[in-house]
Amino acid sequence: MYRKKRIAILTGGGDAPGINAVIRAVAKKAILEYGIEVIGVEDGYEGLIHNRCRKLHYDDVSGILTLGGTILGASKTSNPYRYAVTAGGRVVFEDVSRKAIRNVREWGIDALVCIGGDGTLGIAHRLMKDGVAVVGVPKTIDNDIRGTEVTFGFDSAVAIATEAIDRLHSTAQSHHRVMIVEVMGHRAGWIALYAGVAGGGDIILIPEIPYGIGAIAAKVKERHRKGRRFSIVVVAEGAKPKGGDFVIKKMVEKSADPVRLGGVGFVLQDQLEKITGSETRTVVLGHLQRGGSPTAADRVLATRLGSKAVDLIVDRKLGQMVAVKEGRLTAVPLEVAAGGPRTVPRGHPLIAAARSIGTSFGD
Ligand code: F6P
Repeated sequence: MYRKKRIAILTGGGDAPGINAVIRAVAKKAILEYGIEVIGVEDGYEGLIHNRCRKLHYDDVSGILTLGGTILGASKTSNPYRYAVTAGGRVVFEDVSRKAIRNVREWGIDALVCIGGDGTLGIAHRLMKDGVAVVGVPKTIDNDIRGTEVTFGFDSAVAIATEAIDRLHSTAQSHHRVMIVEVMGHRAGWIALYAGVAGGGDIILIPEIPYGIGAIAAKVKERHRKGRRFSIVVVAEGAKPKGGDFVIKKMVEKSADPVRLGGVGFVLQDQLEKITGSETRTVVLGHLQRGGSPTAADRVLATRLGSKAVDLIVDRKLGQMVAVKEGRLTAVPLEVAAGGPRTVPRGHPLIAAARSIGTSFGD
């Protein structure tokens, strides 16, 4: 008997503005253009393991373009190949991938669209090798996925961080203070670099360029001598001193990547205040950068990526991630995306441009 084609959508890892715009694009195109049925998997791989799936109708995905978060829910700890369970008061990891794959089969899913970062896409790659037809969509505010020039969510995070820096500028100026703004980005400095430049940060600290506290203090003092009695420091949560390491906020035992970064701003604050004598304050933007409505650019990118993901499924180009190369949509093998974070090259033109206008990178 003829059965309609059926695809499923899953959103893994941390949320990012624009996920719902991707869900909308994938589901609307699948339904409208191809008559494909769409299933939503709840809470990322958690829902695939525990069979929490539901049919998505056109009305479910209509009106969600501008919504933050994900209507499907997400999970940062569920990995079918390394699933954390508590046994005898201890966390142990089990391979429950067969259970997840059985659910894919039972739902009659012809292809799974995995929207996520390198962790989610790495799992998608393994599922593909185990016989599940998969297509990936690169999502993260960190912009650190290999194989694509840009991820959706990044532009929104940069916009939020830039607005925060703008607001901190005026209060820093009034009180002649040093304001440190700590932004997310995990082990990559993309958000700090872009928001730092957009917000006119005087000092930008990214993980890719280890800093020296002496160089940062010297810049603050130089500005002071020139009559600029305030300074703005934009620091990536993953920034580290020369010869030192990043600051860990907490360890999430059940997570495949258990390290949560955060707190480098406060470390810098104490050190800078002592050396410069200038009053210094720190603001950690944290999850604000992941919340709320996506920017226009992210809505457009998310729609393009979602639409292209359906093309890949229809053309049977499976095991691929939709990607952006030289501004155009393309596809790259999932294993490229799974190959670890894409960090900022030290020779990035934006670093050179910022240096040329006197911005310090603390090196
Ligand atoms: O990957 C997105 C991200 O927001 C990183 O920038 C940050 O390091 C991490 O997730 C925070 O994780 P959590 O939501 O578990 O605190």
